[in-house]
Amino acid sequence: MAWVNGLQDVVAAGTELSEVNGEVGKLSYRGRDVGDLVGKFDYEDVAHLLWFGELPSEPQKQSLNELFFSGRQAANEVFDVIDNLPAAVDAMNAAAIGLLCMRAPSGDESDASAAAWYTAAFPVLLLRHYANQHGLLKPRPDIHAGHVATYLYLLRGGIMPTTEEVQALEAYMVLTMEHSLNASAFAGRVAASTRANTARALVAALMTMTGPLHGGAPSLVLDMFDAIGSLSRADEWLEGELSMGRRLMGFGHRVYRTVDPRAQVLHTIAAKSLAGQDSLVLAEGVERRAVKLLAAAKPGRQLHPNVEYWAACVLRSLDIPRSLLTATFAASRMAGWSAHILEQRRCDKLIRPQAVYVAAP
Ligand code: ACO
Repeated sequence: MAWVNGLQDVVAAGTELSEVNGEVGKLSYRGRDVGDLVGKFDYEDVAHLLWFGELPSEPQKQSLNELFFSGRQAANEVFDVIDNLPAAVDAMNAAAIGLLCMRAPSGDESDASAAAWYTAAFPVLLLRHYANQHGLLKPRPDIHAGHVATYLYLLRGGIMPTTEEVQALEAYMVLTMEHSLNASAFAGRVAASTRANTARALVAALMTMTGPLHGGAPSLVLDMFDAIGSLSRADEWLEGELSMGRRLMGFGHRVYRTVDPRAQVLHTIAAKSLAGQDSLVLAEGVERRAVKLLAAAKPGRQLHPNVEYWAACVLRSLDIPRSLLTATFAASRMAGWSAHILEQRRCDKLIRPQAVYVAAP
C-alpha cells in the first residue's frame, strides 16, 4: 500500500536529549559521547544528565538518591496489588499496573522528581511480581544502594551482586537509557502531548517497547542461539531463515547504517565476562556469518548487529532470566522515556498527524 513507510525520515520533534548519527554509528546524550559515559558515571548520574541537562554535583546526587529511595518506598505501598495478580500475568504488564496504581509524587507533572520516582519504582514492581511468579524470596526494596545494584539484589532474593556484575549491568543500562525518537519514546511523547500524566505516558512507552521489532528481540536472539546449537550448523540455519523470508533477530536498525555503537561496547563486555565459553564462540561466529549472509541477501541494506544482539549475551552472562530481558531493557529506558515526556510537556503541543484516505481497491 502506498503511504506505508513507518514515518521513516520524517522529523517529528526536536530534542536536546540525544543524537543518533546512523551513518557513522555515534550516539551522544546531551552532546556527550555515550562511550565516554560508560564506566565513569552510574545510572543515576546519567539520568540526571538527561533530566536536568548536567551531571550532578555531590549535593544534587544526594537529592537524587533520596528521590530514588522514595520511589522504591512508594512502590512498596502497592505490593498488595502486585501480590494479588495471577502468576500468568507477564512481569512487564504487572509493573505497568503497579505504576498506574502508585500515588503521584509531590510536585507538579513538569517536575523531574516524577521521573526519578517512577524510574526507581519500576524494577521494584517488576521484580516483586517475578518473585511471586517463581516463589522466590522477596527482600525489602528500600535499601541504600545504587539503582543497578538494587536491581540485581531484588532479582537474586536479597543477595548483593559483585562489583563486576554491577559494572556490566550499569554499562548496559547507561548505553540503553536513551535513543532519540524510537518507537517507544515517540509513543510516550504522543501520550504526554495529550497532557496525560507521567505514569500513563510511561506505560504507553512501556507497552510499545514489547514488540519483537523493538525491545522484544533479546530473548529471541537467545532462542536463535539455542536453535542453531553449534557453529557448524549456523550457515544452514541462517540461510534457511533468510530463504523463508524471516528476519534474523538482533540485526538491522532503522537508523544505523553501520554497526550500532552500543553493540560494540556490549560485545567487549560480553567478551570479558564470557571469555573461554562456548556461548561466546557461538555468538561471535553467528554474528560473522549472519552479517555476510545478510549482505548477500539484502545488498545495499547495511544490516549489522544491533544493540539487542550483544545485550542478550551480556544479560545472559548476568543470569538475567530470558523472560525478563525486555523488561530489563525497559528498566534502563525509564530514564530516557521520562526525559522525553518532560521535554514534550514543555512544548505543550498536541501531536496529531494526518492520514491520507485511500479508498479500498
Ligand atoms: N533480518 C533479515 N532481513 C532484514 C532484517 C533482519 N534482521 N532487518 C531488515 N531486513 C530486511 C527487511 O526484510 C527489508 O527487506 P526488503 O527491502 O527486501 O523488504 C530490508 O532489510 C529493510 O528492512 P526494513 O523493514 O525497511 O527496516 P526497518 O528500518 O523498518 O527495520 C528493524 C528495522 C525493525 C530493526 C529490522 O531490522 C528488524 O526487524 N530487525 C530484527 C529485529 C530486531 O533485531 N529488533 C531490535 C531492533 S533494536 C531496538 O529496537 C532497540
